[in-house]
Amino acid sequence: MLDKIAELHKLCFPHKPWSADDFGELKKSGCEIVASQNGFIVWRTVLDESEIITIGVHPDARGTGIAIAMIGLMENEIKKNGASKIFLEVSHTNTPAIKLYEKCGFGQIGKRKNYYSDGTDAILMQKDI
Ligand SMILES: CC(C)(COP(=O)(O)OP(=O)(O)OC[C@H]1O[C@@H](n2cnc3c(N)ncnc32)[C@H](O)[C@@H]1OP(=O)(O)O)[C@@H](O)C(=O)NCCC(=O)NCCS
Repeated sequence: MLDKIAELHKLCFPHKPWSADDFGELKKSGCEIVASQNGFIVWRTVLDESEIITIGVHPDARGTGIAIAMIGLMENEIKKNGASKIFLEVSHTNTPAIKLYEKCGFGQIGKRKNYYSDGTDAILMQKDI
């Protein structure tokens, strides 16, 4: 199962793939991982705040609403546990992801300069649920 997620992650993030062990460590550290053949989402909840750690959809399955559905599923799960805010970081160059998050109701709350190893800035986004 974690091998399959790692394979999918590599297709989504070819320049910084995570291994099955990486996903195992995330699970051990308390992250929730939801995955199907075409997509995965990983989040962490601390008290009433959740953070999307990563999300990806198979390149051949993009544009069909899978990411929106996974974020909706996550929201339903975390609401049951009393979370009221979701945070995430996204590269300012990742237009598809920024558009996705805006469509899901996230707004920009800050920026971290040169946050990623390629020198791009991270945009911090938040949604109240
Ligand atoms: C970002 C990503 C998860 C979107 O997955 P997806 O399943 O294709 O997204 P959806 O089909 O649910 O699209 C939902 C909305 O997101 C936006 N969106 C998605 N892809 C887009 C693109 N290529 N360009 C512009 N907007 C896009 C649109 O607003 C879309 O709604 P619409 O179809 O009604 O216009 C996918 O492109 C991906 O896996 N990218 C590589 C990994 C990555 O960058 N993850 C995010 C890291 S922060």
